[in-house]
Amino acid sequence: MSGEEVLSYTESIQRASDSIYRFPLIPIRGVPLMNHIANSWDSIWAFRPDPTDLLIATYPKAGTTWTQEIVDLLLHNGDAEICKRAPTTVRNPFLEIVSPAPIPSGLDLLKQMDPPRVIKTHLPFQLVPPGFWENKCKAIYVARNAKDNMVSYYHFDRMNMTQPEPGPWDGYIHKFMRGELAWGSWYDHVKGYWEEREKKNILYLFYEDMKEVRMFLNIWALSYLSLSHAHSHTLTFPQNPRREVERIMRYLDLSISDDVLSRIVELTSFKSMKENPMANYTFIPAPVFDHSISPFMRKGEVGDWTNHFTPDQSKIFDEDYEKQMKAANIPFRTRI
Ligand code: A3P
Repeated sequence: MSGEEVLSYTESIQRASDSIYRFPLIPIRGVPLMNHIANSWDSIWAFRPDPTDLLIATYPKAGTTWTQEIVDLLLHNGDAEICKRAPTTVRNPFLEIVSPAPIPSGLDLLKQMDPPRVIKTHLPFQLVPPGFWENKCKAIYVARNAKDNMVSYYHFDRMNMTQPEPGPWDGYIHKFMRGELAWGSWYDHVKGYWEEREKKNILYLFYEDMKEVRMFLNIWALSYLSLSHAHSHTLTFPQNPRREVERIMRYLDLSISDDVLSRIVELTSFKSMKENPMANYTFIPAPVFDHSISPFMRKGEVGDWTNHFTPDQSKIFDEDYEKQMKAANIPFRTRI
Protein backbone atom coordinates (compact mmCIF):
# COMPACT_ATOMS: atom_id res chain seq x y z
CA MET A 1 0.00 0.00 0.00
CA SER A 2 3.02 2.29 -0.57
CA GLY A 3 3.12 3.41 3.05
CA GLU A 4 -0.49 4.65 2.95
CA GLU A 5 -2.39 4.09 6.18
CA VAL A 6 -5.42 1.82 5.84
CA LEU A 7 -8.25 3.09 8.02
CA SER A 8 -11.35 1.16 9.00
CA TYR A 9 -14.64 2.77 8.07
CA THR A 10 -15.21 3.71 11.71
CA GLU A 11 -11.73 5.23 12.06
CA SER A 12 -12.21 7.25 8.91
CA ILE A 13 -15.36 8.78 10.42
CA GLN A 14 -13.56 9.66 13.61
CA ARG A 15 -10.76 11.29 11.59
CA ALA A 16 -13.32 13.42 9.75
CA SER A 17 -14.85 14.76 13.00
CA ASP A 18 -13.92 18.36 12.40
CA SER A 19 -15.60 18.44 8.99
CA ILE A 20 -18.93 16.98 10.13
CA TYR A 21 -21.90 19.30 10.42
CA ARG A 22 -25.48 19.32 9.20
CA PHE A 23 -24.82 19.68 5.49
CA PRO A 24 -27.17 21.87 3.47
CA LEU A 25 -29.23 20.37 0.66
CA ILE A 26 -28.75 21.40 -2.96
CA PRO A 27 -31.32 20.43 -5.60
CA ILE A 28 -30.29 18.19 -8.47
CA ARG A 29 -33.04 18.18 -11.10
CA GLY A 30 -35.37 19.42 -8.37
CA VAL A 31 -34.39 16.74 -5.82
CA PRO A 32 -32.70 18.07 -2.67
CA LEU A 33 -29.45 16.20 -2.01
CA MET A 34 -26.67 16.68 0.51
CA ASN A 35 -24.22 19.31 -0.80
CA HIS A 36 -21.34 16.80 -1.07
CA ILE A 37 -23.49 14.57 -3.27
CA ALA A 38 -24.69 17.47 -5.41
CA ASN A 39 -21.11 18.66 -5.88
CA SER A 40 -20.05 15.22 -7.19
CA TRP A 41 -23.16 14.69 -9.24
CA ASP A 42 -21.47 14.28 -12.64
CA SER A 43 -19.33 11.35 -11.53
CA ILE A 44 -22.28 9.67 -9.78
CA TRP A 45 -24.49 9.99 -12.86
CA ALA A 46 -21.67 8.60 -15.03
CA PHE A 47 -21.24 5.46 -12.89
CA ARG A 48 -21.26 2.31 -15.06
CA PRO A 49 -22.29 -0.79 -13.12
CA ASP A 50 -21.49 -4.31 -14.25
CA PRO A 51 -24.50 -6.26 -15.56
CA THR A 52 -24.06 -8.63 -12.59
CA ASP A 53 -24.38 -5.85 -10.01
CA LEU A 54 -27.56 -5.70 -7.94
CA LEU A 55 -29.17 -2.42 -6.89
CA ILE A 56 -31.14 -2.07 -3.65
CA ALA A 57 -33.12 1.16 -3.86
CA THR A 58 -35.29 2.80 -1.21
CA TYR A 59 -36.51 6.10 0.08
CA PRO A 60 -34.48 6.65 3.29
CA LYS A 61 -35.76 4.63 6.26
CA ALA A 62 -37.93 2.21 4.29
CA GLY A 63 -36.03 -0.93 5.32
CA THR A 64 -32.82 -0.68 3.29
CA THR A 65 -30.48 -2.20 5.86
CA TRP A 66 -32.88 -5.05 6.55
CA THR A 67 -33.09 -5.91 2.86
CA GLN A 68 -29.31 -5.61 2.46
CA GLU A 69 -28.82 -8.13 5.26
CA ILE A 70 -31.35 -10.57 3.77
CA VAL A 71 -29.66 -10.30 0.37
CA ASP A 72 -26.14 -10.74 1.79
CA LEU A 73 -27.22 -13.84 3.71
CA LEU A 74 -29.00 -15.26 0.66
CA LEU A 75 -25.90 -14.71 -1.46
CA HIS A 76 -23.77 -16.46 1.17
CA ASN A 77 -26.12 -19.35 1.84
CA GLY A 78 -26.98 -18.13 5.34
CA ASP A 79 -23.38 -17.97 6.57
CA ALA A 80 -23.66 -15.54 9.49
CA GLU A 81 -19.90 -15.25 9.98
CA ILE A 82 -19.15 -14.30 6.38
CA CYS A 83 -21.92 -11.72 6.58
CA LYS A 84 -20.10 -10.14 9.52
CA ARG A 85 -16.97 -9.64 7.39
CA ALA A 86 -17.48 -5.87 7.29
CA PRO A 87 -20.05 -3.19 8.15
CA THR A 88 -23.12 -2.90 5.94
CA THR A 89 -21.76 0.25 4.29
CA VAL A 90 -18.58 -1.56 3.20
CA ARG A 91 -20.28 -4.78 2.10
CA ASN A 92 -22.81 -2.85 0.01
CA PRO A 93 -21.47 0.56 -1.01
CA PHE A 94 -23.91 3.46 -0.91
CA LEU A 95 -23.72 4.59 -4.53
CA GLU A 96 -24.16 8.35 -4.19
CA ILE A 97 -22.76 9.03 -0.73
CA VAL A 98 -19.92 11.50 -0.55
CA SER A 99 -18.58 12.57 2.82
CA PRO A 100 -15.61 14.62 3.96
CA ALA A 101 -12.19 12.94 3.67
CA PRO A 102 -10.93 10.50 4.72
CA ILE A 103 -14.37 8.80 4.69
CA PRO A 104 -14.48 6.84 1.43
CA SER A 105 -17.29 7.74 -0.94
CA GLY A 106 -19.61 5.11 -2.38
CA LEU A 107 -17.77 5.34 -5.68
CA ASP A 108 -14.39 4.90 -3.90
CA LEU A 109 -15.62 1.69 -2.27
CA LEU A 110 -17.11 0.41 -5.52
CA LYS A 111 -13.80 0.91 -7.32
CA GLN A 112 -12.14 -1.40 -4.80
CA MET A 113 -14.64 -4.22 -5.33
CA ASP A 114 -15.02 -6.74 -8.11
CA PRO A 115 -18.50 -7.40 -9.50
CA PRO A 116 -20.96 -8.80 -8.72
CA ARG A 117 -21.61 -6.08 -6.16
CA VAL A 118 -24.68 -5.21 -4.14
CA ILE A 119 -25.15 -1.46 -4.33
CA LYS A 120 -27.42 0.66 -2.16
CA THR A 121 -29.08 3.85 -3.33
CA HIS A 122 -31.71 6.30 -2.12
CA LEU A 123 -31.86 8.07 -5.46
CA PRO A 124 -35.31 8.45 -7.00
CA PHE A 125 -35.77 6.48 -10.20
CA GLN A 126 -35.04 9.39 -12.54
CA LEU A 127 -31.66 10.04 -10.88
CA VAL A 128 -30.40 6.44 -10.97
CA PRO A 129 -27.43 6.33 -13.36
CA PRO A 130 -28.81 5.05 -16.68
CA GLY A 131 -26.05 2.43 -16.89
CA PHE A 132 -28.08 0.26 -14.48
CA TRP A 133 -30.94 -0.04 -16.94
CA GLU A 134 -28.76 -0.17 -20.05
CA ASN A 135 -26.92 -3.13 -18.49
CA LYS A 136 -30.18 -4.73 -17.36
CA CYS A 137 -29.03 -4.91 -13.74
CA LYS A 138 -31.42 -6.45 -11.26
CA ALA A 139 -32.91 -4.05 -8.75
CA ILE A 140 -34.89 -4.50 -5.56
CA TYR A 141 -37.03 -1.59 -4.38
CA VAL A 142 -38.45 -1.52 -0.86
CA ALA A 143 -41.29 0.83 -0.01
CA ARG A 144 -42.72 1.61 3.44
CA ASN A 145 -46.00 3.32 4.21
CA ALA A 146 -45.62 7.08 4.29
CA LYS A 147 -46.53 7.66 7.92
CA ASP A 148 -44.16 5.11 9.44
CA ASN A 149 -41.50 6.05 6.92
CA MET A 150 -41.76 9.66 8.00
CA VAL A 151 -41.66 8.83 11.73
CA SER A 152 -38.52 6.80 11.18
CA TYR A 153 -36.95 9.58 9.11
CA TYR A 154 -37.78 12.16 11.77
CA HIS A 155 -35.92 10.23 14.46
CA PHE A 156 -33.09 9.54 12.03
CA ASP A 157 -32.74 13.23 11.24
CA ARG A 158 -32.46 13.91 14.96
CA MET A 159 -29.52 11.53 15.34
CA ASN A 160 -27.79 11.93 11.95
CA MET A 161 -25.57 14.97 12.32
CA THR A 162 -25.00 15.26 8.56
CA GLN A 163 -28.64 15.90 7.64
CA PRO A 164 -30.59 19.13 8.18
CA GLU A 165 -32.18 19.62 11.61
CA PRO A 166 -35.63 18.05 11.59
CA GLY A 167 -37.09 20.86 13.70
CA PRO A 168 -40.38 20.33 15.52
CA TRP A 169 -42.53 17.34 14.52
CA ASP A 170 -45.48 19.46 13.37
CA GLY A 171 -43.31 21.35 10.88
CA TYR A 172 -41.55 18.15 9.80
CA ILE A 173 -44.83 16.72 8.55
CA HIS A 174 -45.18 19.66 6.17
CA LYS A 175 -41.59 19.37 4.95
CA PHE A 176 -42.24 15.69 4.22
CA MET A 177 -45.47 16.47 2.36
CA ARG A 178 -43.67 19.12 0.28
CA GLY A 179 -40.75 16.81 -0.50
CA GLU A 180 -38.18 19.06 1.14
CA LEU A 181 -36.23 16.38 3.01
CA ALA A 182 -33.00 14.87 1.74
CA TRP A 183 -33.67 12.70 -1.34
CA GLY A 184 -36.86 14.62 -1.99
CA SER A 185 -40.46 13.59 -2.19
CA TRP A 186 -41.47 10.19 -0.75
CA TYR A 187 -44.52 10.34 -3.04
CA ASP A 188 -42.51 10.77 -6.24
CA HIS A 189 -39.99 8.18 -5.06
CA VAL A 190 -42.43 5.31 -4.48
CA LYS A 191 -44.39 6.20 -7.62
CA GLY A 192 -41.31 6.50 -9.82
CA TYR A 193 -40.14 2.94 -9.18
CA TRP A 194 -43.69 1.58 -9.16
CA GLU A 195 -44.30 2.88 -12.67
CA GLU A 196 -41.07 1.36 -13.98
CA ARG A 197 -41.10 -1.93 -12.08
CA GLU A 198 -42.32 -4.12 -14.92
CA LYS A 199 -40.37 -2.51 -17.74
CA LYS A 200 -37.13 -2.60 -15.76
CA ASN A 201 -37.72 -5.93 -13.99
CA ILE A 202 -37.57 -4.32 -10.55
CA LEU A 203 -38.64 -6.45 -7.59
CA TYR A 204 -40.93 -4.07 -5.66
CA LEU A 205 -41.34 -5.06 -2.01
CA PHE A 206 -43.19 -3.58 0.95
CA TYR A 207 -41.77 -3.27 4.46
CA GLU A 208 -45.18 -4.20 5.85
CA ASP A 209 -45.20 -7.51 3.94
CA MET A 210 -41.73 -8.35 5.23
CA LYS A 211 -42.84 -7.57 8.75
CA GLU A 212 -46.18 -9.33 8.53
CA VAL A 213 -44.52 -12.64 7.86
CA ARG A 214 -42.54 -12.26 11.04
CA MET A 215 -45.61 -11.42 13.11
CA PHE A 216 -47.18 -14.54 11.76
CA LEU A 217 -44.11 -16.48 12.83
CA ASN A 218 -44.21 -14.96 16.31
CA ILE A 219 -47.86 -15.81 16.72
CA TRP A 220 -47.05 -19.31 15.61
CA ALA A 221 -44.12 -19.51 18.03
CA LEU A 222 -46.23 -18.24 20.93
CA SER A 223 -49.03 -20.63 20.29
CA TYR A 224 -46.54 -23.41 19.86
CA LEU A 225 -44.92 -22.66 23.22
CA SER A 226 -48.20 -22.56 25.08
CA LEU A 227 -49.92 -25.39 23.28
CA SER A 228 -47.16 -27.70 22.25
CA HIS A 229 -47.72 -30.25 24.98
CA ALA A 230 -51.44 -30.57 24.64
CA HIS A 231 -51.90 -29.96 20.94
CA SER A 232 -48.63 -30.46 19.14
CA HIS A 233 -50.17 -32.98 16.79
CA THR A 234 -52.74 -30.47 15.59
CA LEU A 235 -50.26 -27.65 14.92
CA THR A 236 -49.15 -26.98 11.39
CA PHE A 237 -46.44 -24.56 10.37
CA PRO A 238 -47.80 -21.55 8.51
CA GLN A 239 -47.73 -22.18 4.81
CA ASN A 240 -45.66 -19.24 3.84
CA PRO A 241 -43.68 -18.00 6.81
CA ARG A 242 -40.83 -16.60 4.73
CA ARG A 243 -42.70 -15.32 1.73
CA GLU A 244 -40.69 -12.17 1.05
CA VAL A 245 -37.30 -13.78 1.70
CA GLU A 246 -38.25 -16.50 -0.77
CA ARG A 247 -39.36 -13.91 -3.29
CA ILE A 248 -35.94 -12.29 -3.10
CA MET A 249 -34.29 -15.70 -3.40
CA ARG A 250 -36.24 -16.50 -6.56
CA TYR A 251 -35.58 -13.08 -8.04
CA LEU A 252 -31.84 -13.65 -7.54
CA ASP A 253 -32.13 -17.11 -9.16
CA LEU A 254 -30.88 -18.77 -6.00
CA SER A 255 -31.96 -22.08 -4.58
CA ILE A 256 -31.60 -22.37 -0.84
CA SER A 257 -32.66 -25.12 1.54
CA ASP A 258 -35.57 -24.70 3.93
CA ASP A 259 -33.30 -24.90 6.96
CA VAL A 260 -31.05 -22.15 5.68
CA LEU A 261 -34.04 -19.97 4.79
CA SER A 262 -35.34 -20.35 8.34
CA ARG A 263 -31.94 -19.35 9.67
CA ILE A 264 -31.90 -16.28 7.43
CA VAL A 265 -35.34 -15.25 8.71
CA GLU A 266 -34.03 -15.54 12.26
CA LEU A 267 -30.74 -13.72 11.57
CA THR A 268 -32.61 -10.83 10.00
CA SER A 269 -35.17 -10.39 12.76
CA PHE A 270 -35.14 -6.90 14.25
CA LYS A 271 -33.72 -8.28 17.49
CA SER A 272 -30.84 -10.14 15.82
CA MET A 273 -29.93 -7.20 13.63
CA LYS A 274 -30.07 -4.76 16.53
CA GLU A 275 -27.45 -6.90 18.26
CA ASN A 276 -25.29 -7.34 15.16
CA PRO A 277 -22.49 -4.73 15.20
CA MET A 278 -21.93 -5.20 11.47
CA ALA A 279 -25.57 -4.36 10.68
CA ASN A 280 -26.81 -2.05 13.44
CA TYR A 281 -24.89 1.05 12.32
CA THR A 282 -22.97 1.46 15.58
CA PHE A 283 -19.99 1.32 13.19
CA ILE A 284 -21.02 4.85 12.29
CA PRO A 285 -20.37 6.54 15.61
CA ALA A 286 -20.63 10.13 16.76
CA PRO A 287 -19.87 12.65 15.35
CA VAL A 288 -22.01 11.31 12.46
CA PHE A 289 -24.67 9.14 14.13
CA ASP A 290 -25.55 9.95 17.73
CA HIS A 291 -27.23 6.72 18.76
CA SER A 292 -27.86 8.16 22.23
CA ILE A 293 -30.43 10.54 20.71
CA SER A 294 -32.18 7.74 18.82
CA PRO A 295 -30.65 4.36 17.91
CA PHE A 296 -30.45 3.47 14.22
CA MET A 297 -32.27 0.22 15.03
CA ARG A 298 -35.07 2.12 16.70
CA LYS A 299 -38.33 0.10 16.83
CA GLY A 300 -38.75 -1.76 13.57
CA GLU A 301 -42.54 -1.78 13.72
CA VAL A 302 -45.57 -1.14 11.56
CA GLY A 303 -47.98 1.43 13.01
CA ASP A 304 -45.63 3.47 15.19
CA TRP A 305 -47.11 6.52 13.46
CA THR A 306 -50.12 6.22 15.79
CA ASN A 307 -47.78 7.25 18.64
CA HIS A 308 -46.73 10.41 16.80
CA PHE A 309 -49.62 11.88 14.77
CA THR A 310 -52.40 13.77 16.51
CA PRO A 311 -55.85 13.16 14.97
CA ASP A 312 -55.64 16.61 13.32
CA GLN A 313 -52.20 15.97 11.86
CA SER A 314 -53.36 12.61 10.59
CA LYS A 315 -56.36 14.21 8.88
CA ILE A 316 -54.27 16.88 7.15
CA PHE A 317 -51.75 14.26 6.09
CA ASP A 318 -54.40 11.88 4.75
CA GLU A 319 -56.10 14.60 2.71
CA ASP A 320 -52.83 15.58 1.11
CA TYR A 321 -51.89 11.92 0.61
CA GLU A 322 -55.09 11.34 -1.26
CA LYS A 323 -54.21 14.14 -3.69
CA GLN A 324 -50.59 13.11 -4.20
CA MET A 325 -51.25 9.36 -4.49
CA LYS A 326 -54.71 9.23 -6.06
CA ALA A 327 -53.71 8.04 -9.48
CA ALA A 328 -50.98 5.67 -8.32
CA ASN A 329 -52.91 2.82 -6.75
CA ILE A 330 -49.96 1.39 -4.79
CA PRO A 331 -51.24 -1.00 -2.12
CA PHE A 332 -49.68 0.55 0.99
CA ARG A 333 -50.81 -0.54 4.43
CA THR A 334 -50.39 1.58 7.56
CA ARG A 335 -51.28 -1.31 9.87
CA ILE A 336 -50.91 -5.06 9.66
P1 A3P B 1 -37.65 2.51 12.70
O1 A3P B 1 -36.97 3.84 12.81
O2 A3P B 1 -39.12 2.64 12.46
O3 A3P B 1 -37.32 1.59 13.82
P2 A3P B 1 -33.21 2.03 6.60
O4 A3P B 1 -32.36 0.83 6.76
O5 A3P B 1 -33.84 2.16 5.27
O6 A3P B 1 -32.50 3.25 7.07
O7 A3P B 1 -34.47 1.83 7.55
C1 A3P B 1 -34.35 1.86 8.95
C2 A3P B 1 -35.66 1.41 9.55
O8 A3P B 1 -35.79 -0.01 9.35
C3 A3P B 1 -35.71 1.63 11.05
O9 A3P B 1 -37.09 1.80 11.37
C4 A3P B 1 -35.16 0.31 11.56
O10 A3P B 1 -35.44 0.03 12.89
C5 A3P B 1 -35.90 -0.65 10.61
N1 A3P B 1 -35.27 -1.97 10.56
C6 A3P B 1 -33.98 -2.30 10.41
N2 A3P B 1 -33.80 -3.61 10.48
C7 A3P B 1 -35.03 -4.16 10.66
C8 A3P B 1 -35.51 -5.50 10.81
N3 A3P B 1 -34.68 -6.53 10.79
N4 A3P B 1 -36.83 -5.67 10.99
C9 A3P B 1 -37.68 -4.62 11.02
N5 A3P B 1 -37.29 -3.35 10.88
C10 A3P B 1 -35.97 -3.11 10.71
